Amino acid sequence: MSMIFETHAHYNDEAFREDREEIFAQLEEKRIGRVVNIASDLESIDECLDLAENHPFMYCALGIHPSDSAPLTDALLAGIRDKLSNPRVVAVGEIGLDYYWDTPDRAIQKHWFEEQLEMAREAQLPVVIHSRDAAQDTLQIMQAHRAQEIGGVVHCFSYSLELAREYVKMGFFIGIGGVVTFKNARKLKEVAAGIPIEKIVLETDCPYLAPVPFRGKRNSSLYLPYVAEEIARLKGMDTEKVIEITEKNAERLYRLA
Ligand code: NI
Repeated sequence: MSMIFETHAHYNDEAFREDREEIFAQLEEKRIGRVVNIASDLESIDECLDLAENHPFMYCALGIHPSDSAPLTDALLAGIRDKLSNPRVVAVGEIGLDYYWDTPDRAIQKHWFEEQLEMAREAQLPVVIHSRDAAQDTLQIMQAHRAQEIGGVVHCFSYSLELAREYVKMGFFIGIGGVVTFKNARKLKEVAAGIPIEKIVLETDCPYLAPVPFRGKRNSSLYLPYVAEEIARLKGMDTEKVIEITEKNAERLYRLA
């Protein structure tokens, strides 16, 4: 039987400090199979690696989120690079640009985005892209670095269908989570309906962005069935089919057999 593949979670977050293992113990009965936990700041690198090494269903992505990129140095990045050969590491991420919070300076965000794209290329790992209110610069940098040769996912996709098609053409997957269940998420519903199911992966970005009927609460992978159901509804497909195909997509994305 196919299982839901959670492609983007942050279980190292303090929101899970008290009951992380209790959530993990419930994954199987909610049909959640594998989970990729995603690093964001420098502190989270070793936490994510540690979680992945101690849970057989869990992998991790290592990288620095644009909003947390201010303290990065070449030496610190080299330290991350050294950990990428660990077999539990399946991607570099999350990396990208965030002009919503708009800090640190855009030039700094761009610099570390570019450095980490090249780090992923060298390590032959896909990338997990975070891009918020930075559509044009993100695409421009990815094109300049021939991201189609690197591959990966644009996570928590928040742009137009037209732009989603652009990333699909580059061979990227589109990460869709709880936002797709929001009544006012017209643009994302259009994206989910408009791109091939073979290019969609399921994600939570937990503890953030819980789907309806838990909107505003702490999110976890246990709520992913609501995301699968909404995508199935939008595409006029069986939820079962959505789970099966997106699981295969995630295996291809993270290069897991
Ligand atoms: Ni995230």
